[in-house]
Amino acid sequence: MNKLTPQPGIMDITLYQGGAAHVKGVSNVIKLSSNENPYGPSPKAMEAVRDSAALLHRYPSTNHAPLRAAIGEVHGLNPDQIICGVGSDEVLQFVVHAYAGPGDDVIYTRHGFSMYPILARMVGATPVQVDESERKVDVDAILATCSERTKVVFLANPANPTSTMLAEGEIARLADGLPPQAILVLDGAYAEFVEGFDGGAALVAARDNVIMTRTFSKIYGLGGMRVGWGYAPQDIINVLNRIRQPFNLSSTALVAAEAAVRDRDYVEHCRAENTRLRAWLAGELAEAGVPSDTSCTNFILARFADQTEAEACDAYLQSQGLIVRKVAGYGLPNALRITVGDEDGCRRIAEAVRGFKAGQA
Ligand SMILES: Cc1ncc(COP(=O)(O)O)c(C=O)c1O
Repeated sequence: MNKLTPQPGIMDITLYQGGAAHVKGVSNVIKLSSNENPYGPSPKAMEAVRDSAALLHRYPSTNHAPLRAAIGEVHGLNPDQIICGVGSDEVLQFVVHAYAGPGDDVIYTRHGFSMYPILARMVGATPVQVDESERKVDVDAILATCSERTKVVFLANPANPTSTMLAEGEIARLADGLPPQAILVLDGAYAEFVEGFDGGAALVAARDNVIMTRTFSKIYGLGGMRVGWGYAPQDIINVLNRIRQPFNLSSTALVAAEAAVRDRDYVEHCRAENTRLRAWLAGELAEAGVPSDTSCTNFILARFADQTEAEACDAYLQSQGLIVRKVAGYGLPNALRITVGDEDGCRRIAEAVRGFKAGQA
């Protein structure tokens, strides 16, 4: 008999479900289930990837200095206070690994990103879920849940899958009210979709208990490359770097991300298209009788009468070659999360939802 015993918490982990990409027997499928950039990466990032092939026999940089310098330049941040990871998921993992363990609480909210409880369990900590208020993070509820066991508080702003966002003052109030041993993680995976938003960088600079994480997987269109980063006070970065593998990012990933972050025109174009098409699609859905909260992201959380209707619409969309995300696992059984695609993707979704609703009437 196998006597090997995994660490506490590990067998309680429910495996992460990625967004589906195929529908059996249907061609011309559009994947709108993973909040990816419908336009792909910057052409400059693709060129950097091609150029990197000749040097693949060399180990990559271990300190990621050129990428951190580029991020620092573009975002106006001190590169020394930046750490890069295999997607922002890895940076989130560094935080729980470094600051939480058995007997500690990791707080996340009712509709929070599904990796948060997984990460807590990975290190044997207890994931503690806090209620939201009408699909919006409730700062008072989080503060009321904090205790001497609280070590990490995860908050995506804007949030996935709700697409809602807290104002900077609310986040500051949360950071100020946390117990001294707790670190606040501001997950800014969707920050670039909010014009002029710094993702919480100013809050990091003004406090010693806040880290901001960002990703190249969303607006930069590099989900397949797996690059993310974090910005935190120097003390925290010095801790996290001790548990980061020296060669966590490939040389190809490093140059792709550097080229992507420097291509500001491309990011601006993607943001503008997302803003335009998101407003159009939300309006079309509302007209068809499918409301949504004002989205601050690159997806819309479309609400239906109940779970039965949401599931029926999902099945209908699939039959039309449109893959969106069911979010019952996030406590939102009557909703579907729809990534804002390109013009064609948005038109097809609007038309299909209208067709579905007409069939229901
Ligand atoms: C809120 C949020 N945080 C973090 C991530 C992880 O992104 P990545 O690991 O690709 O950087 C995602 C991806 O969907 C997300 O939605």
